[in-house]
Amino acid sequence: MPHRDKPTVVRPFQFFRAGAQSAANDDRPILVLDDVTKYFDADQPTLRGLNLTVQRGEFAFITGPSGAGKSTLLQLIYRKHTVDQGRILFAGRDIARLTDRSIPFLRRNLGIVFQDFKVVEHWTVFENVAIALEILSMPRRLVRSRVSEALERVGLSGRGRERTENLSGGEKQRVAVARAIVTEPALILADEPTGNLDPHLAIDILTLFEEINETGATVLFATHDHSLIAKREHRLISIVDGRVVEAQSGLSSWPGQRNKNNSGLHAVAG
Ligand SMILES: Nc1ncnc2c1ncn2[C@@H]1O[C@H](COP(=O)(O)OP(=O)(O)OP(=O)(O)O)[C@@H](O)[C@H]1O
Ligand SMILES: [Mg+2]
Repeated sequence: MPHRDKPTVVRPFQFFRAGAQSAANDDRPILVLDDVTKYFDADQPTLRGLNLTVQRGEFAFITGPSGAGKSTLLQLIYRKHTVDQGRILFAGRDIARLTDRSIPFLRRNLGIVFQDFKVVEHWTVFENVAIALEILSMPRRLVRSRVSEALERVGLSGRGRERTENLSGGEKQRVAVARAIVTEPALILADEPTGNLDPHLAIDILTLFEEINETGATVLFATHDHSLIAKREHRLISIVDGRVVEAQSGLSSWPGQRNKNNSGLHAVAG
């Protein structure tokens, strides 16, 4: 926690007030990937000349076979890695140009959820969610009310005092979602958030992300689970040969669906 003479609430830079609360008069896309190329291996780019625009308020699945680059795409957005060519604009700002000092401000406008939850097992549910606000030096009273609101939104009302290790997998993921949304980020990045869950829990968590989307946050939901994708008509972004191939309304509008044997779909989406 940063040391300060007196406790102050640290707000993201004005430029980065990209959260759902401040989206009203901003019609720029929340995210633009412009000709993005990323190499991990000099001979074979993982992403090659990838273009993608995401408008505020969208819900999109990101799919593609294992190794296609779904996680890499999300990691570039939260600047775990940097692009080798091209640009990523978040709320109109080129994230490659952020100084290291500014990266936390970017991340405060992002909510990130992982397959393995990444909750601290020996902390309480409350502590796991509160940490996202405590690092902003938010006053305790405000932290308490914001955390209890977030827990209510994920269906864990009144569970704040429980130790996280005693929760089920689905409940732990709800804690992780509460932690991701408690700062009211503009963009939620979910990387296989249902990968460790039973099918019925996977639907519950998907529905939870949809509810969050309905309150204004943009959601990118990476999954290779076609049974999940098939249940919804969301925009479907598939990574094929390092580029984006997409359908506007789920698998039903996917070009491969028109083939009798569905081979196009399996070839691109694993
Ligand atoms: N930090 C890294 N160092 C080297 N290579 C990497 C790194 N991260 C990813 N890669 C490589 O980039 C490619 C894309 O990996 P990525 O994890 O993005 O795929 P994915 O679509 O998320 O796969 P999965 O469905 O298995 O999660 C893979 O070939 C992977 O080995
Ligand atoms: Mg992945």
